[in-house]
Amino acid sequence: MADKTYPWKIAWITGASGAICGEIAQRLAKAGVKVAATARPSEKLDELAASSPSITAFPADVLDVEALKACAAKVEAELGPIDLALLGAGMYVPFDIRNIDTEGFRQTMALNVDGVLNGIAAELPAMLERGEGHLAIMGSLFGYAGWPGNGSYGASKAAVINLAESLKLELRGTGIDITLINPGFVDTPLNASYDPKKKLFVMSKERCARKILEKLPKRPYEIAFPPQVEIFLKTVRNLPRAASFPVVRWFIKATGA
Ligand SMILES: NC(=O)c1ccc[n+]([C@@H]2O[C@H](COP(=O)([O-])OP(=O)(O)OC[C@H]3O[C@@H](n4cnc5c(N)ncnc54)[C@H](OP(=O)(O)O)[C@@H]3O)[C@@H](O)[C@H]2O)c1
Repeated sequence: MADKTYPWKIAWITGASGAICGEIAQRLAKAGVKVAATARPSEKLDELAASSPSITAFPADVLDVEALKACAAKVEAELGPIDLALLGAGMYVPFDIRNIDTEGFRQTMALNVDGVLNGIAAELPAMLERGEGHLAIMGSLFGYAGWPGNGSYGASKAAVINLAESLKLELRGTGIDITLINPGFVDTPLNASYDPKKKLFVMSKERCARKILEKLPKRPYEIAFPPQVEIFLKTVRNLPRAASFPVVRWFIKATGA
């Protein structure tokens, strides 16, 4: 039974077998929200579904738009109208200018950008027809500024930020809200290959999920944290380019980031 902590009855979550979205799925389920959990078929996804009667696994590959459309339709047929779609499947690969991983770049763009777009294409038409719904998409604060080693991930998240801005403008008056979720570093398997000394202000997946769920019910355009990283990267974005590169170089030298 929903305990009214959250305004949604049915949440569809992609990337649900992952660290952040898995934690969100469990917190929503605990509060009585029915969660449709999507990721590729795996034991992890099955374990998540087994952890609560409120979580059902709807396995699908977010890169396959037709499969994802069928998945969203199945969720609606079996559970009811999706009122929150949280699109969270994502990946990171390192970017080394001396040995550019072109395939890794393409995979990252495909999962982080096309994966989000496919989720929107799968669910937005039904939301538009009903005149209500909430789309939430996982970006990253590192989409706001270029960063050494981050050429693939940063480019994909910059695309997500721009896509969210376009949707925000177009969804006005439709009854559908969009929330762009931009965390800084979270301690998850996604960034295991990132040099730990270079990760600043790292938070746990539990803290990340709590912060997202504190704000998401109010349907803001953006949820971004931690503030130190948000302010720094947005300031860098807004500085004249002649100033932004020296500031980033100074910051990296001063902090070891
Ligand atoms: N961790 C961070 O520091 C951080 C910071 C800011 C933003 N974010 C963003 O938050 C989101 C979640 O990150 P996380 O750290 O929790 O990642 P994670 O633990 O690595 O989880 C990634 C999720 O994506 C799913 N996935 C990958 N390929 C897929 C595919 N083709 N089809 C369906 N699902 C697929 C994975 O499931 P399967 O592989 O089992 O299919 C898994 O559920 C990502 O968008 C990430 O960019 C993360």
